[in-house]
Amino acid sequence: MITNNIFSSLRLRQIINDLKRRPLDASKDLSLNPKTFDKYLKGKIKIDENFVRKAVKVWPVNISDFINPKYQKSTNYKVMRFKDSFKTKRVMKRGGKDYYEYRDTVMDRDAPFRPEWIRELVYVKSNSPNEKDLKWNRGHLLHQLTYFVGEVNFYYIDKNKKKRTAVMNTGDSMYIAPYVPHTFASRNRKCEGYIVAITFSDKITNEVQNEILNFDKKKIKQVIFNRNFTDQNKVTVKKFEEKQKKTKGPLHIIELAKNKIIKTANFACIR
Ligand SMILES: [Fe+2]
Repeated sequence: MITNNIFSSLRLRQIINDLKRRPLDASKDLSLNPKTFDKYLKGKIKIDENFVRKAVKVWPVNISDFINPKYQKSTNYKVMRFKDSFKTKRVMKRGGKDYYEYRDTVMDRDAPFRPEWIRELVYVKSNSPNEKDLKWNRGHLLHQLTYFVGEVNFYYIDKNKKKRTAVMNTGDSMYIAPYVPHTFASRNRKCEGYIVAITFSDKITNEVQNEILNFDKKKIKQVIFNRNFTDQNKVTVKKFEEKQKKTKGPLHIIELAKNKIIKTANFACIR
């Protein structure tokens, strides 16, 4: 019996049962010799792409109905070491210049989070959000939580469409909602700071996206983009207060709790 195949013989049996077909009827549908079909059913012949292509053409079933749910095994925990993370290192350019160095961190197919280690390769002399080397993105569908290490600036466009800078340091963090344009740069000449950016999807899962594909462009614009979201808080910045830096030894939970989540960026901190 083939157990590590992407397509499942048990699922095939379930499908033909649901379609009220005996193996003999099913083999006729697929123009297969009944003995050969029986081998597919018993898992003695591997169900391959050609078999599934034919089956979904002949029967009112989906490709996913044939997928073996045990093909991918889940694990309880995962550890990713520095050396493995380092191997995934890649440098992204923007405007022809090195902009970010990316490295993977631990991820799991069953978790909705996609964390990345990102080093900012552009050094900025001032905290102006109009620095010429900054290259902005247009935002993305995924939500993003970001944790900061070192002297890194976070730039975003606020609800009044104004460019903003949040001056971030070790221990600071931020959240941005989907489609908030943003970028990052280093205030450290050697660009020694980095961020851990955790992106994740919410309600608009891949299934929902596939569903939306059936709408025409005008409809998509009406349903998604014409809604007024300006009253919502799309950016949250949490500062790790200055006094914490003086604390020697491990951080106390109670002190961390005193840090308030500031609903909009704390511009008082912009130097
Ligand atoms: Fe992002």
